[in-house]
Amino acid sequence: MIKSLKIDEKLEKYISDHSSDLHPVQKEIINFNEKLGDIKKMQISITQAYFFQFFIKVNNIKNILEVGTFTGYSALSMGLAMPKDGNITCLDINKETSDTAANFFKKADLDKKIKIILGPATVTLKKLHDKKKTFDMIFIDADKENYKNYYNLSIDLVKTNGFILIDNVLWKGDVANPYKNDQLTNLIREFNSFIKKDDRIEKTILPLGDGITICRKV
Ligand SMILES: C[S@@+](CC[C@H](N)C(=O)[O-])C[C@H]1O[C@@H](n2cnc3c(N)ncnc32)[C@H](O)[C@@H]1O
Repeated sequence: MIKSLKIDEKLEKYISDHSSDLHPVQKEIINFNEKLGDIKKMQISITQAYFFQFFIKVNNIKNILEVGTFTGYSALSMGLAMPKDGNITCLDINKETSDTAANFFKKADLDKKIKIILGPATVTLKKLHDKKKTFDMIFIDADKENYKNYYNLSIDLVKTNGFILIDNVLWKGDVANPYKNDQLTNLIREFNSFIKKDDRIEKTILPLGDGITICRKV
């Protein structure tokens, strides 16, 4: 069996150089985030974004809910892959980064397709549920403490045969390291075990970026 590759920055760049060209605004967000210091890690990886774009196209996904938007890289990348009548609803609690994201969406002419709702995501998710909104795909990438809440609320919001994707489920590989027992690592482990037992969905974990779980609601 071939050993899985560790994707470092050089290899990430190589993949990017040999995939479809990045949109100029994607490049701008990456450069912007680079200058933010350590929090640049919040952004999904370039390979994850390529995968999302492909996934959206092959599954003809038309409406997406994103929980955790930061400066907009994941939402913009998904928006670029969607058809003209597609739309994305983004949830985030941070006004400053959301304003930055909104500017990037406008620059890419995606401001009609991508809307941001500011506020704690659990509150917004409940409101969307009350309004009987449904989505083809939900991407969860916000505070890890609420992952289980976001997931449970998302199950009601995603259509049958729709998808829930969750980022950071491998947590730098720490989930499989018995010597790592800090609170966040244990939270992610608990979340992964919960998903494993949930028969409302089919699931797999892809080792892309920091690990993505893909669930299909059955
Ligand atoms: C990992 S970042 C999202 C990265 C983004 N998907 C990207 O690829 O650039 C997590 C985001 O979750 C947001 N967040 C944290 N707690 C939240 C909460 N309780 N409700 C809504 N958003 C929250 C943060 O403000 C931050 O922008």
